[in-house]
Amino acid sequence: MNLTTQYMGLTLKNPIVASASPLSRTVASIEQLAVAGAGAVVMYSLFEEQIIREQTLYSHYFDLGNESHAEAQTYLPQSPSYNADPDDYVRLVARAKKAVDIPIIGSLNGVSAGGWVKYAKEIQDAGADGLELNVYFIPANIAAEGAAVESRYFEILRQVKEVVRIPVAMKLHPFFSSLPHFACQLSKLGASGLVLFNRFYQPDIDLEHLEVTPHLRLSNSDELRLPLRWVSLLHGRIECDLAISTGVHNYKDVLKGLMVGAKVTMMASALLQNGASHISTVLAELTEWMETHEYESVQQMQGSMSHVLLANPESVLRTNYMQVLDSWGKVTAHWDQSSR
Ligand SMILES: Cc1cc2nc3c(=O)[nH]c(=O)nc-3n(C[C@H](O)[C@H](O)[C@H](O)COP(=O)(O)O)c2cc1C
Repeated sequence: MNLTTQYMGLTLKNPIVASASPLSRTVASIEQLAVAGAGAVVMYSLFEEQIIREQTLYSHYFDLGNESHAEAQTYLPQSPSYNADPDDYVRLVARAKKAVDIPIIGSLNGVSAGGWVKYAKEIQDAGADGLELNVYFIPANIAAEGAAVESRYFEILRQVKEVVRIPVAMKLHPFFSSLPHFACQLSKLGASGLVLFNRFYQPDIDLEHLEVTPHLRLSNSDELRLPLRWVSLLHGRIECDLAISTGVHNYKDVLKGLMVGAKVTMMASALLQNGASHISTVLAELTEWMETHEYESVQQMQGSMSHVLLANPESVLRTNYMQVLDSWGKVTAHWDQSSR
């Protein structure tokens, strides 16, 4: 069984990648991911704020206004837990690279172009095989136009591409008005991969204490449907590789991801819940399923269930939507009958 896959110009022994999470915070846990069979590991993110905090009086402005709103009070990370030394991060990449023989992908997380992106080169020089850029930006400014939000991503990508030669992927959220066009632009600007999707952590409200609770709920397989749809629509239409993140929990999720056209499927929640050894379980089940269904390689199934052959996916999606809504008509018909 050939499980190898090509992602961002890298050859991975299988398509299961450990997504950015605290599981990459130590060399020991990265080793566990590798032993369990991960095709690659994406490191947790080094944040723009951490880099700038090191360099300036940024923390003063960062903390300013912390008390001004119930959400602000609880939502802004406090300095001590957040203020890891960027150089420690780079050293960890170098140590991880020496410890395991699978690709290590560094991760930078920021929202503005600027001097901090030079850390992309530091991460490259530490031996990272690739870099993931996570622009976790929530456009709360009512005056900001969509094009300005998109150009933020373009500018960060441009600046990073100027300083590194390793492949760069961008991790996106799904809330763009024309995701295919935006994805295509990123690909043209030199992104080697797109990771769909970043997951916004949406706070809840504690009604008893009238507090905003920055609640981090892990994902489940139901959430896979959103990236499945978009990878399916983008596969074959843009140059760069596609990765699925969000909702990959078991071998069926991996299979679905590959079939819609993902080159890799990434896991964070499933590994945090079940431990690194979950990767070996999923790999065994994946292989067994492929043998039973007479697949010889992962490549054989990649994109087999995508929308690529549809000339006009928009009208098909609309028709499907109407059919699904209509299927609930049977329920109301049943209500009508029982009320007679
Ligand atoms: C505790 C935790 C920490 C995370 N840290 C990062 C991070 O540092 N950088 C990043 O890009 N994504 C981070 N993520 C997001 C994951 O990489 C992933 O995109 C998201 O959880 C959706 O995938 P999942 O359904 O497999 O959890 C984190 C997720 C969790 C649950």
